[in-house]
Amino acid sequence: MYRSLMNHYTGYLAIHKFEAELERELEIKGIPIALKKDRLYLVAGDHPPMIWAQVSAFKMIQIPITSIKDGAKKLRNLGRNWALFTVGNHRRAQLIQEELPDYPIKPIPFRMAIPKLPMGFWTLLETDVILAATETSSPFPLGEMTFQEDKTTPPSRAYLKLWEFFTVYAPEAISTGTAIDVGSCPGGWTWVLRTLNFENTISVDKAPIEKRIMDLGKIEFRQESAFGLDPKDFGEIDWFCSDIICYPERLLTLVKKFRDSGKVKNFICTIKYQSVTDWENTLKFLEIPNSYIVHLHHNKHEVTWFLKGAAP
Ligand SMILES: C[S@@+](CC[C@H](N)C(=O)[O-])C[C@H]1O[C@@H](n2cnc3c(N)ncnc32)[C@H](O)[C@@H]1O
Repeated sequence: MYRSLMNHYTGYLAIHKFEAELERELEIKGIPIALKKDRLYLVAGDHPPMIWAQVSAFKMIQIPITSIKDGAKKLRNLGRNWALFTVGNHRRAQLIQEELPDYPIKPIPFRMAIPKLPMGFWTLLETDVILAATETSSPFPLGEMTFQEDKTTPPSRAYLKLWEFFTVYAPEAISTGTAIDVGSCPGGWTWVLRTLNFENTISVDKAPIEKRIMDLGKIEFRQESAFGLDPKDFGEIDWFCSDIICYPERLLTLVKKFRDSGKVKNFICTIKYQSVTDWENTLKFLEIPNSYIVHLHHNKHEVTWFLKGAAP
């Protein structure tokens, strides 16, 4: 049945528990679902990565196979690294995977150069049909990445979002000048910015950040509401970082105020949701030119909006 459908698909592996978000995103973008298997959504033809897919697999093709060895050989002929997501025929799929080359799956250090070798994605659609893509949206298997965590210094695990961002999405970022961190308590993001050695780190929250973070020095802490900040009171800002818990609409107003000031070069902001995903305002963030939204591996029911090189 599948063999006769289309030449190729784009595959989206929905983030666990966020299948409804991916379905809504596809609907908003007018992309019909051709086939859904477990958390894997297939759409006909070429499409870009989706926010709510933990990995997007491009130009997925169907490969008829005659045996486990034949399947492994055909995959090896296409590429070296393959990540498997099983949608059925689990044992047979695992046996094929075991015939494929190993690759290291281990936690990486902050800002490690990300692997250059492409990471393929495959599944066993039927006993005798593989669906595979050599090109995917992530160099990590199924888009899953873990860090060698610092379990003692940062006061919260929120720092992992900023680690992921500066490792994967902004590895080129040079930490000179000023960074501002709004919604900073207890201090995980401020700690990351401090370790990046910005000349000046301004940290803003209604609640105080932990003393041991302040003791690192070179941090200016302002205990006030971020929404009352006036860009006029700041010089040039290299990175505007926000992890504030607030309605997306309020964050958008704050972002626009700072963006319109022309003083901010780069933004990274967590858009947090209540019980439902606020698509209306999420799409308004995307209307800001040259900006992107991703769901980081370390995001929960929230996404990360970023804009690099904003100021003239
Ligand atoms: C998820 S926490 C931030 C965690 C922080 N990024 C870290 O790494 O430790 C969200 C923070 O937003 C702060 N917040 C909420 N409303 C705020 C406002 N109007 N102005 C500043 N901070 C606010 C809360 O006090 C809370 O500390």
